[in-house]
Amino acid sequence: MKKLQHSIRLKLHYIKAFKAELQPRRYELGMLAGFKVLLLGLGLVSPLLFKLLIDRVIVQQDLKALWLICSGYAAVYIMQSAVTGGQTFVGNKFTNRVTFAVRTALWDRYLNMPLSTYCQLNTGDLKGRIDQDTDAVDRLFKVQLMEYAYSFAYLLAGAAMMAVFSWKLALVALLMVPVSFWITSKLGIRAREVSTSYRQIYGEYEGWLQQSIQSWREIKINRMEKRSSLKFTGYWHAMSKVFFQKEMYWFLNRVLQEFKDLFITRMNLYFLGGLLIFHGEMTIGGLLVFMKYYEMLFTQLRAINDFDMQFNGDVPGLEKISSMLAETPDTKNTTRVKPAADQNHLPVLQFKNVSFYYNVEGSAVLRDISFAVQPGARIAIVGRSGSGKSTIIKLMLRICQPFHGSIQLGGRELQQIGEAELRKSFGVVMQNPAIFNMSILENVKLARPAASTAEIKEACRLAEMEEYIGKLTHGYDTVIGEKGVQLSGGQKQRLALARVLLSDAKIIILDEATSMLDHITEAAVHQTFAKLPSDRTVIIIAHRLSSVMYADEILLLDNGQIADQGKHQKLWMENTLYRLLFENGAGSSGPVVAANRT
Ligand SMILES: Nc1ncnc2c1ncn2[C@@H]1O[C@H](COP(=O)(O)OP(=O)(O)OP(=O)(O)O)[C@@H](O)[C@H]1O
Ligand SMILES: [Mg+2]
Repeated sequence: MKKLQHSIRLKLHYIKAFKAELQPRRYELGMLAGFKVLLLGLGLVSPLLFKLLIDRVIVQQDLKALWLICSGYAAVYIMQSAVTGGQTFVGNKFTNRVTFAVRTALWDRYLNMPLSTYCQLNTGDLKGRIDQDTDAVDRLFKVQLMEYAYSFAYLLAGAAMMAVFSWKLALVALLMVPVSFWITSKLGIRAREVSTSYRQIYGEYEGWLQQSIQSWREIKINRMEKRSSLKFTGYWHAMSKVFFQKEMYWFLNRVLQEFKDLFITRMNLYFLGGLLIFHGEMTIGGLLVFMKYYEMLFTQLRAINDFDMQFNGDVPGLEKISSMLAETPDTKNTTRVKPAADQNHLPVLQFKNVSFYYNVEGSAVLRDISFAVQPGARIAIVGRSGSGKSTIIKLMLRICQPFHGSIQLGGRELQQIGEAELRKSFGVVMQNPAIFNMSILENVKLARPAASTAEIKEACRLAEMEEYIGKLTHGYDTVIGEKGVQLSGGQKQRLALARVLLSDAKIIILDEATSMLDHITEAAVHQTFAKLPSDRTVIIIAHRLSSVMYADEILLLDNGQIADQGKHQKLWMENTLYRLLFENGAGSSGPVVAANRT
């Protein structure tokens, strides 16, 4: 009984988790409950007509009653069909709308997750939540709420009717009910465990599959076909094994229930019923109608057990969805502080003794980092690969949180700045920028949807895209394929640079954003950034000296610490690591930028 209570409580818990999505559909839910009550009443009438048929028509040879019984059967059938039709119509509408609302809410949560969550996200798992787990929500309402309640009501009504015809037989039949729930609860625990591991493998598989499809080039180039094929069969092998186990638990549950209900209980009931008729305590019709109600009870009991087994399998998916819906969007998570009236004297960005670990068990990736960026400054961050440059950017964008120290944006703690304002403040171009399957014009326009075509074209010109676009048959309207497959690496970078130039962002971050450009184009792009109005601050991370040597301040990172800082001349003269970093790239295209900086 405790297990049953627990299962019902759990169902109610999940139903409550979708309260916001259910609330607008409460009238449909009421209508469905009404239909179910009607169906329940009609279902209980049929066996009574059957009793009349046996006792009045067959035993007592009363032919007049036959007409009455036939009309009764016809009326019940017509009403049942009409009510079932209405219930199907309203039920489908109800569940479609509720699952649509849940899917939309999930997508909304995905778009508004705290930035740090995206880093840990398994794409396959998320896809599973939106595609498959929402089917579990559909079943929660359709099956676990409506059908379950209906079956339970039917079960109670059937038990009451059985008691009316023979309380002694009813007692024997009902003694078996707790055994049914016991079997299901035992097998259900295993079914739930198996479903959880199935869900986990499937999530990993989806993520891997997605990545493999996108990385077909790398697979071919690195001749990873065999490994990839083995991985694919490995996943499916694991999934089939778990799926098989899941099906076997279902089957075992069904076999045990049928053995108990069809074989043991039914045999005993007929035997005891026969004795009662023999002693004149029951009519033949009475026993047959009792057995009809027993069948009804048994069918509903089996349905309830099946629903419970199914629910156990759905719990992992429901848990994932409800926990994602319960997450507070990042925009609501911050106590906002208004910007100071006069920010001009404040550093636009300031790191104070910042330390950071990706893994608490591992060593610190950044240690005691302190620096200030004045408005309009050109700052460069340099250092060996893995020294922590991109991590500093992740901290600035709040993708990661510092473990120690503070980061301020315009004099305010980064934590206290609203998500929208934070995103608006930064314009970021990474080494592999995101390009969408839209036209060039639309891709650039994403940065500022209100921008005019002339402004977009100007941004493309400044990003050295004009020549390339001029050669295209459809010019700016050329659709550049999924992830920009029709563009070279350098063209993608320039498109992203055009985007950031068009944006209103006051702080522009270029993290190896020009690494794929030839020296001539790169020099021209840096000229553009050097000439930007002084209200725009630029932070550049690059491995080429030509990209950084004219910065107002260069931060040299080594092993997660600021090893040195200052202008190029000073570092070149005084710091061996700095010289080692750039010895081969010095002077390549720098003078062009220098000439235009002042
Ligand atoms: N998501 C992550 N989880 C765990 N460790 C990470 C993660 N991202 C980076 N690291 C580690 O943190 C250190 C700094 O990485 P970061 O990307 O900041 O280096 P970088 O200076 O930008 O290097 P590069 O010049 O190669 O881009 C590296 O040792 C890296 O392995
Ligand atoms: Mg990096």
